[in-house]
Amino acid sequence: MPGLLLGQVFPDFEAETTDGNIKLHEFLADSWGILFSHPRDYTPVCTTELGRAARLSQEFTDRNVKMIALSIDDLEDHNGWTKDILAYNSEESDCCSLPFPIITDKKRDLAVALGMLDPDEKDKDGVPLTARCVFIIGPDKRLKLSLLYPATTGRNFDEILRVVDSLQLTAGKRVSTPVDWQPGDCVMIPPSMSEEEAASLFPSGVYTKDLPSGKKYLRYTPHP
Ligand code: BEZ
Repeated sequence: MPGLLLGQVFPDFEAETTDGNIKLHEFLADSWGILFSHPRDYTPVCTTELGRAARLSQEFTDRNVKMIALSIDDLEDHNGWTKDILAYNSEESDCCSLPFPIITDKKRDLAVALGMLDPDEKDKDGVPLTARCVFIIGPDKRLKLSLLYPATTGRNFDEILRVVDSLQLTAGKRVSTPVDWQPGDCVMIPPSMSEEEAASLFPSGVYTKDLPSGKKYLRYTPHP
């Protein structure tokens, strides 16, 4: 099964989208990118996901992240389905167009190349549908994160924003973010950093939790 590893350059594919033809790297330019796939147009979970993604689009823009969706149906279906997604959103948003393009992958070429097919979810002809993938791509065009959910489980786009915050912070600072971290919370100092280096890099303070092992690896510092 083909797939992508973290750190690999994301394929610079050409695709037909609801906003015209694109080449991925040119589309992303200097931004971060998020590509999220959907099993099928006119399906319930996908509609709620695209609606939520649209409502959060300003948050992604504020983080310099360009969004792009993918579903295997054709442009006519994408355009018809878009009206349903906007209607689903209408109580919370008066947006009259989706703020990101949807790629059409009718022949499933991208779904195969990017390892997105879910062998357990098939269409009426027995052909596997795309799973719910999320790829986050850095400005260097390398894959920074991937998530793969089955068709029956919708994603949490607030969590995706949270991981963008972590990825962007840890791309520029030598820190890690702990479980359930939110921007503003303390961050952690990686095990490879000496106490002396940590003290000089983080003058606002390093707090080390005492542990039964006596090992001093649980080290926190305020969000830099
Ligand atoms: C959905 O979006 O609800 C869905 C799509 C394909 C398979 C299962 C669920």
